[in-house]
Amino acid sequence: MKTLEIEGNKKLSGTVKISGAKNSAVALIPASILCDESVTISNIPNISDISALEDILKYLNVKFKRDSSGEMYIDPNNMKNKMLPESISNKLRASYYFMGALLGKYKRVEMYFPGGCTIGARPIDLHLKGFESLGAKVKQTKNKYIITADELIGSNIYLDVASVGATINIMLAAVKAKGITVIENAAKEPEIVNIATFLNNMGAKIMGAGTNTIKIKGVSYLKSCYHEVIPDRIEAATYIMIGAAVCTNLVVENVIPEHIDALIQKLVEMGVDLKVDSDKVVVTNKNNLKKINVMTLVYPGFPTDMQQIIASLMTQAEGESRIEETIYENRFLNLYELVKMGANIKIEGNKAYIKGKTKLKSAEVYANDLRAGAGLVLAALLADGTTKINNADYILRGYEDIVLKLTNLGAKIRLI
Ligand code: UD1
Repeated sequence: MKTLEIEGNKKLSGTVKISGAKNSAVALIPASILCDESVTISNIPNISDISALEDILKYLNVKFKRDSSGEMYIDPNNMKNKMLPESISNKLRASYYFMGALLGKYKRVEMYFPGGCTIGARPIDLHLKGFESLGAKVKQTKNKYIITADELIGSNIYLDVASVGATINIMLAAVKAKGITVIENAAKEPEIVNIATFLNNMGAKIMGAGTNTIKIKGVSYLKSCYHEVIPDRIEAATYIMIGAAVCTNLVVENVIPEHIDALIQKLVEMGVDLKVDSDKVVVTNKNNLKKINVMTLVYPGFPTDMQQIIASLMTQAEGESRIEETIYENRFLNLYELVKMGANIKIEGNKAYIKGKTKLKSAEVYANDLRAGAGLVLAALLADGTTKINNADYILRGYEDIVLKLTNLGAKIRLI
């Protein structure tokens, strides 16, 4: 495991360019195997989750090439539908998109339960129920799944929870099914629109992505296309919050502001100095931040993925801020690490109360998951002295060139 060492309490400034969205790219790559020709996807971030997906492509004999600009060519013509062993499926959560994609393409998939950050139980029952509604049979032994279908037939699927993963996985399985599939209470995250656009560029017939009803008319052939990954809204949010914490002036480029509207509203309420343009945000640190309350919700509500990062910023606001986490049951582990750095925090069930303003001090801390790690980076940049963030591999799963990007802003940071 790697460690990030950050010497804090420095004023940073400059420009940072946001990379392609992790949560989009990790679904686009599995989606590409549905193509009957070849695809090219640009703006793929260079993060370890993508390397893990490349291992799966290699294992399935899919031809691909990714260049240093982030353009990836994928040709699934010679692929082999093999059982995905635990050693490769458990490297990332998004390996579960191969369930929908392989089922949609071959009517059969055999794989072990996917991995991912330990932020709660994270069941996949809704994915499986969706596949069953399309006519598939699911056989589960321990954490191994065999999903088969004679044929997939469109049906009406209501999701009890507006799950991002289930919405995308069902889309992948339904895109070549016979007839029409309707997903009710679908998730509306921008990444879902990005995946649906990709599939439609290949010739799929998906309507309503971005609303809570998605209609998919099955097609039999998917053709070659060129597609671009949207900017990463969580990475953008992370740098904007770093700007609010420690930057005299930070320009965050390649942002789609409407994707981070909930965050912008909350930062304005906090008193953060922000200027929002069509594709960039300029942010300046101010000393007198005000307390706020945040409740995590599905999109367009405040994202759970930004909650652990804003927690670190809340330590700098006057008074008691509150976070209510409604998506995951175990997403406060980062707060115990913040306490080691001097933060004043009380946790009661799914609510956390963060009292500021506190001068944070350096400590040896642990990134328990990807966004927890990002929150600790922000805290370390604020703290006096040198903070060691262990388990930094989690952070590298989702942040392209984080050391270089922060170094360019004047931070003293190194990866060991
Ligand atoms: C995706 C994101 C993750 C983000 C999350 C919520 C990816 C790769 N990951 O994760 O970064 O934190 O959305 O915005 O895109 N649920 C069920 N049954 C299911 C599926 C989900 O009960 O079959 C529950 C989950 O336990 C959770 C909630 O639904 O409480 C939301 O989960 P979901 O939207 O599926 O998250 P992921 O797709 O795993």
